[in-house]
Amino acid sequence: NWTMKSFIDNEIARIQQIVGPNGQVVGAVSGGVDSTVAARLMKEAIGDRFHAVLVDNGLMRLNECETVKKNLGEHLGINLIVVDASKKFLNCLKGITDPEKKRKIIGNTFIEVFESEALKIDQETKESGHGRIEYLLQGTLYPDVIESVSFKGPSATIKTHHNVGGLLEDMKLKLIEPLRELFKDEVRELGKTLKLNDELIWRHPFPGPGIAIRILGEVTPSQVAIVRAADHIYIDEIKQAGLYRKISQAYAALLPVKAVGVMGDKRTYEQVITLRAVETVDFMTADWYPFPYDVLKKISNRIINEVKGVNRVVYDISSKPPATIEWE
Ligand code: XMP
Repeated sequence: NWTMKSFIDNEIARIQQIVGPNGQVVGAVSGGVDSTVAARLMKEAIGDRFHAVLVDNGLMRLNECETVKKNLGEHLGINLIVVDASKKFLNCLKGITDPEKKRKIIGNTFIEVFESEALKIDQETKESGHGRIEYLLQGTLYPDVIESVSFKGPSATIKTHHNVGGLLEDMKLKLIEPLRELFKDEVRELGKTLKLNDELIWRHPFPGPGIAIRILGEVTPSQVAIVRAADHIYIDEIKQAGLYRKISQAYAALLPVKAVGVMGDKRTYEQVITLRAVETVDFMTADWYPFPYDVLKKISNRIINEVKGVNRVVYDISSKPPATIEWE
């Protein structure tokens, strides 16, 4: 596709011109399509002078951190640093149940961890005589640029990154936003032209605060393990049924209630998983997805049989509005 090809060529030339022959750039990646496409362009333009940072907050999906390492580090050859901050995040979240408080804590902790990593990289490149970090990469899309009023939205992570105020001010970093004129479907097309794999290109959006807002109530390591396992089965079955791309976003959440069940001749008293799947164009309004019953049946059986601590699965049939896509 020649238009995408010329967009890529122009953007690479523009980045090279802005950054110059010695400039160093830092940027956070999440494994999502936007940050990966942006990182891939930077790699193409300035090679290892782009430093990608993945903050493992312990709140990503099952095995996600490993997958990102493989995709970006090994397959795409991006200069990737993974910071394992999962203990720090979980510690900060101890005892917190309020959704907005969770978001704030996660956002602030992210900034703290990312900033300290950026300073470390800056120190290293400075000491090795390779110039300082001067730029911050962000995968901002056009809708984020025009609709910066909404606090919660598919791009709220990016908006949170706008608050990397310390970085922009103390380190005097300047922003590079190669995707700021593109819509999501154009980013996907760009990803295809850049030979990113389909799985990455069509990945459902994932909120910055991750599964912390999909564990209702306190976030603890055991709750994280339960919701991760259930979500993994759910998404796996959706993919096997060939429905993944028909659904805009799907996830499992863990409710803070216990329900009575029976296993063999024993009474159980365990937790409840709720499944969410929506179809939407803009994420401002959404309809719940009408699964075939046999798919729901298989998912429910698998979760209850395979995930310890869960004895009941329910399906969320609420539209947005008045419900939201996330439970918190
Ligand atoms: P709601 O729940 O508001 O979600 O209907 C709409 C879209 O936004 C995502 N979402 C978030 N993304 N940080 C994010 O990066 C957040 O705090 C956040 N809250 C919701 C949600 O996953 C859906 O795609």
